[in-house]
Amino acid sequence: MKTQVAIIGAGPAGLMLGQLLTRAGIDNLILERQSADYVLGRIRAGVLEQGTVDLLDEAGAGARMHAEGLPHSGFSLCFDGDELRIDLEALTGRAVMVYGQTEVTRDLMALRQSSGAPTLYGAKDVALHDIDGSPRITFTRDGAPAQLSCDFIAGCDGFHGPSRAAMPPEVLRLFERVYPFGWLGVLVDRPPAAHELVYAHHERGFALCSMRSATRSRYYIQCDTTENLADWSDDRFYDELSRRIPAATAAALQRGPAIEKSIAPLRSFVAEPLRHGRLFLAGDAAHIVPPTGAKGLNLAMHDVRCLYDALAEHYRAGSDAGVEHYSARVLDRIWRTERFSWSLTTLLHSFPGADPFTRRIQRAEFDALVSSPKLQTVLAENYTGLVS
Ligand code: FAD
Ligand code: PHB
Repeated sequence: MKTQVAIIGAGPAGLMLGQLLTRAGIDNLILERQSADYVLGRIRAGVLEQGTVDLLDEAGAGARMHAEGLPHSGFSLCFDGDELRIDLEALTGRAVMVYGQTEVTRDLMALRQSSGAPTLYGAKDVALHDIDGSPRITFTRDGAPAQLSCDFIAGCDGFHGPSRAAMPPEVLRLFERVYPFGWLGVLVDRPPAAHELVYAHHERGFALCSMRSATRSRYYIQCDTTENLADWSDDRFYDELSRRIPAATAAALQRGPAIEKSIAPLRSFVAEPLRHGRLFLAGDAAHIVPPTGAKGLNLAMHDVRCLYDALAEHYRAGSDAGVEHYSARVLDRIWRTERFSWSLTTLLHSFPGADPFTRRIQRAEFDALVSSPKLQTVLAENYTGLVS
C-alpha cells in the first residue's frame, strides 16, 4: 500500500487531519488499532473553543454541532461555597461551545466515510520504519501482515501510541507532572443541575458539573488514583458531589443511573520536538493536559490545523518551511496551555497532605480573581482559547 500522508490513530486529531487533507486532494490513510464503535464509546472532553468550532466549520463538519451544541457565555468558579461567575462573553467577546468529543468524532467519521477516504480499523502491531528517509509502516490486520509506504507519518495515536516511541531517544525530551489524584466521571440522562458549568474547589476535593445536552449531564469529582470503581455506587457518587458543590446547585441535582462511569488520571506532559525527519506528533501523542481547563481536545485541534498548513504548503507550494517550523509553532501554544491547565488544576484541587498555608494561598488566589476584572479577563482569554 502507498499513500502521501499515513495517519496513525482515528481519534479527533487523526480524523480532523484526514478530513482537511482529503478536502485539499492530498492522499491519506488512517490506521486505527480499535474498532470505530470502541473509539465512539470513550467519553472524554465536552467544551470546544471558538478556534475548534471554526476548524470544524472549515472542515465541513460543523452542521450538527451548530444545531445541537450549546453555546455557553460563562461558567461558575466556586470556592468553599462562594461563587464567582466568569462572564466569558463580556470579558473577551467570545464564548465556548458545549458539544461532546464523541459527537465531534462521530461527525468526522461520517464525513470520512462519505468521502471514501480509507480508514483501516483493527490495525494491530503498528510499527514505524525509516522516519528519516522513506517512511514505512508495518502492521497486521486479521492476522495478516501488511505494509504502507508514505511521504509523511502523522502520529495522532494518543499518549500510549507507537509514534512518540519511534522518535530516536537522543533527540526526544519529555516533561511530565503526574498529579496525586484522578477524576471520577459519571454520565447520566438527566437535565444538568445548573445551566452553565460549575467548577468547585472544596476541602474534600474538586467537583465539576458539566453537560452534553439539555437532558444529559456529565459530573466529575476528584478522587484518589487508587480508588476502585466498584466501590462507587451511583448514590455514593451523588452524595459526594452534592457535598462539594454550592447548596443551590446540589438542590437542583437530578440523580439517575450512570450510563458511564470511569476514573481518569491527571497528568501534564510535553514531548519535544514534535517532528523528526518525516514523522510528526500531534494531539495526545505530543502532550497531555489535566482536564481542568478543558484544553486537551482543543490543543489537539490546534496542532492539526498547523500540521495541515505545513503539509499543504509542501504539496502545493513545494516549500518545507512549514514542515521545518511545525514543532516550534505548536510548542509555543502547548506550553502556554500547559501553564493555564496546571494553574487551574492547582487552584481547584485539594492536594493530599497540603498544609494550611497552601489552602490559604488557594483561597487568596480565588479572592484575587473575585476582586480583579483584569485577572478574570486573563482566565477568560485562556478558557475561550488564546488568539495569538
Ligand atoms: P485520542 O483521542 O487518544 O486518539 C488516539 C487514537 O489512536 C485512538 O483512537 C487510539 O485507539 C489510537 N491508537 C493508539 N495506539 C494505536 C496503535 N498502536 N495503532 C493504531 N492506533 C492507535 N479533555 C478535555 O478537554 N476534557 C475531558 O474531560 C477529558 N477527559 C479525558 C479522559 C481520558 C480518559 C483521556 C485519556 C483524555 C481526556 N481528555 C479530556 C483529553 C481529550 O480527550 C484528548 O486530548 C483528545 O482525545 C486528544 O485527541 P487525540 O486524537 O490526540 O487522541
Ligand atoms: C466535560 O464535560 O467532560 C468537561 C467539561 C469541562 C472540563 C472538563 C471536562 O474542564
